[in-house]
Formats: sequence, C-alpha cells, structure tokens
Amino acid sequence: MSARNSRSAYIWTQKSPVNWKSVRDVDNEGYHVAMAHPALQDLYGATYFDEPFVNGVSRSFATYNPHAGRRWSVREYMKLAPEATHLPEHLRKACIYYGIFPNNGLSIMPESVQFYQEFALSTGETLLRGAIYRYKDETREQAVARYLAYRIDRDTMNEDVQLSVWSNESMLSEASEGFYL
Ligand SMILES: [Fe+2]
Repeated sequence: MSARNSRSAYIWTQKSPVNWKSVRDVDNEGYHVAMAHPALQDLYGATYFDEPFVNGVSRSFATYNPHAGRRWSVREYMKLAPEATHLPEHLRKACIYYGIFPNNGLSIMPESVQFYQEFALSTGETLLRGAIYRYKDETREQAVARYLAYRIDRDTMNEDVQLSVWSNESMLSEASEGFYL
C-alpha cells in the first residue's frame, strides 16, 4: 500500500457540528447498518457483524452479499472488482473494520485500506480526518473497484454524519439514557 507518490491518496478533513463522542458512538455501532446505510446493506446484507470490544479494539466483519446489486455503485462493484487472489480465500470478499479506542477507525477492503479519526475542537465541534490508501502497483480493475467502494463509502459517511447529529441532539435530551462513551 502506498500513500506517497499517489494522486488518489490524500488526507481529507471535515468539520461536524457535534461532540466527538457522538461521532464515535455512531461509528462503533454496526447494528444501524440495516436501517441507515442502504448501499452497505445491499453490499453486505446480513453478513455484517460486530465483535466485542477487547483491550481497546473492536472488530466488525462482513463479506459481500452474493445477491447484492440494487444500488448502482454496488452492482458495478460486484461486477468489476477483481478477484483478490493475493489474499487468503476467506478475506477475498471481506470488509474488516477496526475501531481503536478512543478515536480511530481502520477499514480494510480487498483493494484499499482507509483510516479515519476524530478530534474534539470544542464540546460542540469535531474535526474528522482520514485517508484511503491504494496498492502501489494498483491495476486498472483495482482502481475501478476502489473508486466504486469510495462512492459507497461517501454515502455511508454522509449518513453517519446525519446520525451523529441526531445522536448529539438526543444526548442533550432529558429522556436520553446515554451512550457508551
Ligand atoms: Fe454507520
């Protein structure tokens, strides 16, 4: 994987008008995928599961749903992503997410690796930053797959930003029973 000498790998940043814990809480819950992320749900469906939080790390794991393809990006991804023959068989269609306490996420797909993290700018504003890394010797097919995965991810990210805004609002409510952080 290479970040240097790569036109596609750059550090993106985004500000969100919420407390950083709202961002992290949303990121750590895989069970909202079915309701909040139509493209992810299409791609992974019921295979997506969260593992327990152990020694500061949680892992989520999913493999492509063989019947995926209701969404354009997902359909094209399924059609065009090359078989990742350089990976062990059980990882060739896998997406693995690691949440690393307190503010980091790593997302690993057959054609890319991505990191993102949050920094509190104040109690009501958070800076998100991250980057997607590609293979140094990326093929055209991997580049296409990475682009399509990015489109799916972009939608997912925007959906999570909206969820974190709602989470943040609910934390301020008297009826809130609290979140993990
Ligand atoms: Fe999410």
